[in-house]
Amino acid sequence: MNRIRCDRTPAWGELKNTFDAAGSTFDLRTAFAADAKRFGNFSQTAPHVFADLSKNRIDAATEQLLMTLARQTGLEAHRDAMFAGEAINTTEERAVMHWLLRTPPSDPAMPAQSVHRHMTETLHGVHTTLDAMLAYAEQVRADAAITDVVNIGIGGSDLGPQMAVLALDEFVLPGKRFHFVSNVDGHELAAVLRKVKPESTLFLVASKTFTTIETMTNAQSAKAWFESQGGTDIARHFAALTTNVTAANAFGISTTFGFWDWVGGRYSVWSAIGLPLAMAIGAQGFREFLAGAHDMDEHFRTTPLAQNLPVRLGLLDVWYRNFHGFTSRSVAPYHAALKRYPAYLQQLEMESNGKRVDADRQALPFATSPVVWGEPGTNGQHAYFQMLHQGTDVVPVEFVAVKTPKHTLKGHHTLLLANALAQAQALMLGKSDAGGHKHFTGNRPSTFLLLEELNPTSLGALIALQEHRVFVSGSVWGTNSFDQWGVELGKVLAKDVEKRLISGDAAGLDASTAGLLARLRS
Ligand code: F6P
Repeated sequence: MNRIRCDRTPAWGELKNTFDAAGSTFDLRTAFAADAKRFGNFSQTAPHVFADLSKNRIDAATEQLLMTLARQTGLEAHRDAMFAGEAINTTEERAVMHWLLRTPPSDPAMPAQSVHRHMTETLHGVHTTLDAMLAYAEQVRADAAITDVVNIGIGGSDLGPQMAVLALDEFVLPGKRFHFVSNVDGHELAAVLRKVKPESTLFLVASKTFTTIETMTNAQSAKAWFESQGGTDIARHFAALTTNVTAANAFGISTTFGFWDWVGGRYSVWSAIGLPLAMAIGAQGFREFLAGAHDMDEHFRTTPLAQNLPVRLGLLDVWYRNFHGFTSRSVAPYHAALKRYPAYLQQLEMESNGKRVDADRQALPFATSPVVWGEPGTNGQHAYFQMLHQGTDVVPVEFVAVKTPKHTLKGHHTLLLANALAQAQALMLGKSDAGGHKHFTGNRPSTFLLLEELNPTSLGALIALQEHRVFVSGSVWGTNSFDQWGVELGKVLAKDVEKRLISGDAAGLDASTAGLLARLRS
């Protein structure tokens, strides 16, 4: 498959010229004044999500040029290669098929889109595993003796299910509590163990590899605690969610739900890693979550680039990062239940596209992943929005709002929505005060994503939208968005430092590490 790196395309130079000529001085207020149809032209519906892109520093000609850039880099062929099951994760020689986890059992598009020889059998395997996992989820839901589910996992084996269980809190079965333990810091596990009882707790050990040191350490300690409290029935109180069933069995866990090496950790909430969510919202709810994501997959796979929302968002990310030089994107979900959504997106974007070489191992001469960060609104307004409005850096903000609330408390939701709209408005409009401390420059860009309701379907669509937008920018940049070698060095050094903390051997260490080690041992 022929991918051409963005900086080697004709469109890249044209975008640079466009930026120098008009992009750098683009003013949102002028753009709205000049074009009465700007909102209509720069907003669209996609499955379960409405998106207003009009408050971004972009005009139709620039967006078209970005589409040309995408075509010249081979984005469409790259996308099609992912949906065909080709090994586009080149450094690990793996296919990238998390989308298959949400493909219905008899999808008419399957044979045509697939060049993967065993795709139909693979899909069959996906559904066999899904059915088994959902049957187990229903069994646990019906089991009144199990009141607490403790998910032990980290990174993609934690953030996805944790984010989704919190987001769908209104749909969670009463009487079941869900806990998430990720950190190797024993304070976290100890705090959960203080609250639960062995006879009413189910531990889910979630690890794609079943080797991650944090998860293995927490799982060992949970098992030791369970046994020390007189627990004996490991098969009833422990289950493993992993691609490495052999290691889970060797650990002593016989109840296992598998998945496949073509599911990346940060893309795995749709697999057995989603079991806590399935237990929380039920089999039907989990199927709706998958269906919402599948609708977005189909949108991404088949919609022309100009109306393809993940493509538009991903290209906007490229425009901001490489031409405007914006270094971060702030995420502002105006829904308290989306409190782990920013953390989830952080891993999705930064572990996928935080790369400094292209797929051919050549150093990139341009910037890649922005920093992604944020907090739910309105909390962020009383913390860091000051900097967004008046700081020296321009930070594009991505709002998420939900039209219909699930509560009936009077006045709250209107106030919440008013704040979301007002912040986006203030960022754009600014306020003049002759350059003094009450002066707001305005012209600060934002995107507004709107869901009718926060439910399993819309959450699935929103997350799939984010996955695909990360695919788009990574594809244009020429990175491999599906590996994560950057986490390896720290893991290796931690093993060495752990030994030294025990032995006190500081030989060959840099002076700072040696000094801190000595203090910690004194
Ligand atoms: O941090 C690196 C990483 O491999 C993530 O990509 C992954 O989500 C996390 O560790 C957990 O890995 P595992 O599911 O194999 O325990």
